[in-house]
Amino acid sequence: MTETVLSENVAEGVRQITMNRPDRRNALDRATYQGLIDALAAADTDASVRAIVLTGAGGCFTSGNDIKDFAAGGPGGARVAIDFLDAISTTKKPIVAAVEGFAVGIGTTMLLHCDLAFAGSGASFRLPFVALGLCPEGGSSYLLPLIAGSKRAAELLMLGEVFSPEVAQEAGLLNAVTEGGEALALALEKAKALAALPPQSVALTKMLLKRGSAAATAETIATEARHFGERLMSAEAQAAFAAFLMKR
Ligand code: COA
Repeated sequence: MTETVLSENVAEGVRQITMNRPDRRNALDRATYQGLIDALAAADTDASVRAIVLTGAGGCFTSGNDIKDFAAGGPGGARVAIDFLDAISTTKKPIVAAVEGFAVGIGTTMLLHCDLAFAGSGASFRLPFVALGLCPEGGSSYLLPLIAGSKRAAELLMLGEVFSPEVAQEAGLLNAVTEGGEALALALEKAKALAALPPQSVALTKMLLKRGSAAATAETIATEARHFGERLMSAEAQAAFAAFLMKR
């Protein structure tokens, strides 16, 4: 079986974690979420790792939660996704995201928990939760208004339209937009720079940067998860999943 999460040391002190289901646009099924949780925990506890790069295989970041799992899941169906969000939002080491291609749903909201994020000019972003009969997740209903302002957050989360890397940068989701195909190179460069800095000071700075919003973020992830779990079972959501799967 192909590993759906790849973890490798790509430079001194830098661990690259790659979502690897390219034939599914790196959609996150349960095994992939668990692989990401394990990879983040391993990187966080390995003293030789000083910075983490998070990316996707095949020129795509991720198309978000696997819709087949959404369609099949019971009320607790999203649990492993919530465990992943808890993990990425509390990882102590710096995380640098490199986005090419699609970053849909949790593919966009996970960027709120990365310390730095870069995207190629061809990347596209979307928060299609409402169109799918769902609701915001990943702490986005708290963090997105905080960084993007309430009007922009409502536009992105309520209308759920596709948006460009430039809009993502304006909204505070990205540090910079690169030439297409160059996001990973820049993310690696920044991760190497972080890895060369005093690690305790880096970790302390990350903790201090997150301290003010940590409790509200955790509370929001949990509250959103309760509503999300209920919405998964709703007629609106089940109809949207069936429509997506029927087109295949
Ligand atoms: N869950 C399950 N399967 C998915 C998927 C997802 N989130 N995203 C893509 N796939 C599958 C497709 O069903 C297709 O399978 P097939 O080859 O058996 O037909 C394959 O991956 C390739 O996807 P396709 O739609 O043909 O690629 P594309 O490049 O034309 O479009 C996307 C890519 C990401 C725009 C499109 O796949 C999409 O909108 N996916 C759903 C995104 C989504 O709503 N995610 C949930 C967020 S909460």
